[in-house]
Amino acid sequence: MARPLIMAANWKMHLAPAAARDFARAFLSGFVARPDRRYWFFPSAVSIEATAAAFAGAERVSVGCQDVHWEPKGAYTGATSVPLAKGAGASLALVGHSERRHVFGETDADTARKVASAHGGGLTPLLCVGEQLAEREAGTTEAVVLRQLRAALGGQDVGLIGAVVVAYEPVWAIGTGKTATPADAGLVHRAIRSELVRMGHPSPLILYGGSVNEGNVAGLAAEPEIDGVLVGGASLDPAAWRRICEVP
Ligand code: 13P
Repeated sequence: MARPLIMAANWKMHLAPAAARDFARAFLSGFVARPDRRYWFFPSAVSIEATAAAFAGAERVSVGCQDVHWEPKGAYTGATSVPLAKGAGASLALVGHSERRHVFGETDADTARKVASAHGGGLTPLLCVGEQLAEREAGTTEAVVLRQLRAALGGQDVGLIGAVVVAYEPVWAIGTGKTATPADAGLVHRAIRSELVRMGHPSPLILYGGSVNEGNVAGLAAEPEIDGVLVGGASLDPAAWRRICEVP
């Protein structure tokens, strides 16, 4: 039986509103959403409204913000609050993406506040965790991702924990063309899943991200521990992204 999957596109700092509208038109032309799949799009904050409007009425499609601030409003130049993202049409929020952590210096404590604000404001948090190359080589992958998980979710209420979706994205695999093998990713997903269950999550969903493309998506999607994929570069072309979304 085909496994239910979440196919998530992270457009990062690409696709202005007009390009996002063109993408949606091309992607949706002749597209049939599968009942066992969800299609998530994370445009730049400036393109959330255009993306949400362009996908309005499309079945099983949701739009999210790539990052949110922990305060609902205030003097935080350049930041996007949960109410602002929601007002633009978002229903999801990426939190703790590795580029936020390692390029912008976001801490574990920041991710905890952001997860809480996303959930509190009505957005589903997609919490990202993942180890750097040196950490993998030192054999500390599991310790790192479980630390990130506990830091973001420890002490949060069980309603929040049960609402979180997690993405495992090894930093060394993001944008590098290197992917974790399905079996390696599966091991980390298993550790994340048991920790989430221990924390009270009734049915964790864990996506894999890091250089997912048309060539490797089938193998990843077939791994029972992988509940979907979070894709950067290969999600920017509507035809290629369609083929990835249509993986058997
Ligand atoms: P790439 O698919 O470009 O490696 O990016 C992965 C990612 O960071 C998705 O959030």
